[in-house]
Amino acid sequence: MIRLDYTQAKSFLPDPELAQGLERARDAHARLMDGSGAGSEYLGWRDLMVEPDDALLGNLQDVAAEIRQRADVFLSIGIGGSYLGAKAVIEALTPYFPTGDGPEVLFAGKDMSGAYLRELLGYLEGKSVYVNVISKSGTTLEPAIAFRFVREWMELHFDDADDRIIVTTDPERGALNELRKAHPYRKYVIPPRVGGRFSVLTPVGLLPIAVAGVDIRSLFYGAVAESERLSQLDNNSAIEYAAVRCRLLENGYSTEVLAHFEPRLSSIGGWWQQLYGESEGKGHNGLLPVSLQYSTDLHSLGQYVQDGKRNLIETFLIAEDDGGDMTVDIDSANLDGLNYLEGKSLTEINRKAYEGTARAHVQGGVPVLTLWLENITPGSIGELIYFFQHAVAVSGYMLRINPFDQPGVEAYKKEMFRLLGKP
Ligand code: PA5
Repeated sequence: MIRLDYTQAKSFLPDPELAQGLERARDAHARLMDGSGAGSEYLGWRDLMVEPDDALLGNLQDVAAEIRQRADVFLSIGIGGSYLGAKAVIEALTPYFPTGDGPEVLFAGKDMSGAYLRELLGYLEGKSVYVNVISKSGTTLEPAIAFRFVREWMELHFDDADDRIIVTTDPERGALNELRKAHPYRKYVIPPRVGGRFSVLTPVGLLPIAVAGVDIRSLFYGAVAESERLSQLDNNSAIEYAAVRCRLLENGYSTEVLAHFEPRLSSIGGWWQQLYGESEGKGHNGLLPVSLQYSTDLHSLGQYVQDGKRNLIETFLIAEDDGGDMTVDIDSANLDGLNYLEGKSLTEINRKAYEGTARAHVQGGVPVLTLWLENITPGSIGELIYFFQHAVAVSGYMLRINPFDQPGVEAYKKEMFRLLGKP
């Protein structure tokens, strides 16, 4: 269960405004639950929770087990919602350093760097490679270009290239379905009612995550449990989160920092940035989502958060149990002067860093919220994914926008394609 503590934001939000925010958030939540809000044709991410597809989860686990046995590298090709969720969950839930257990999961098609692609293809030489190309539309330029290069490379290097390539795409539309007419690639479907940034709990995220060795059933059912909790009006932390952040936005706070103290959560921050930025940033509205990793970033952007322009709110993402177990020992010479930390674990020290930072930032004029995860396990990460998805939908409805479209993303593409001479 994701717990929200917003006591350190209360002094920035008079009680009547908070009460009004909560009332509007409850109303927005009701529209999400009864499907009467804008963009409700894209509520498939909630349907997944109501009717879990165990057969699909089993199939994904079987295919992942096959790939784990046969591959040195699993290359996932995709961008935005077809990439960030898998990266986030894999980094959160797998060891920091390679263990040799299962294939290395690499990503491509997330940019258009020729240097990256050339070096990647060089790195793949001599390795057993499986590829998962993921694109809902099948027309996104970055993954389409990367897949053209990788496809040619695969065909040159493997007689069974078609068996090693899996596509994840729309049921019928798009170039990947066209390619399947010539190549019998295995295919997973992205449910049409699930938008890209809400698709991590579909095969988009689940196949790469399972190949990385993560228990996708626990991940998925963590999300299901959170969705059940958040379907209630009482003690609903997603409603409270949406209420507080949206009321603060309306009071002039225009940036939300999501800060954590555990490096493995960094890409969760990247996934959150996309989910919140693409869902809320429209109609000249929305909080700019900025993900920071503390204490690293306290030594860079920490200065700005403490003392820069006062338009920031800060949400800490903290795990009660962060999985760390290093304890500082006594050193008889104490030349580094650290003996005052004797017997303290790095978890305790990091916790004090969080408490101290939160206090200092509140004193500096930053409203602070804290989201508490129980631990960093598949179940808790599943809870967190659903929590953020539910809360952004409630926030979007509070801000009177459609949280499920992304019209602004098309503008740059139009200009770029004009310059590239696309017919
Ligand atoms: O959230 C979204 O819809 C986007 O970020 C898309 O996921 C991203 O643009 C990739 O699109 P596609 O999967 O169609 O290639």
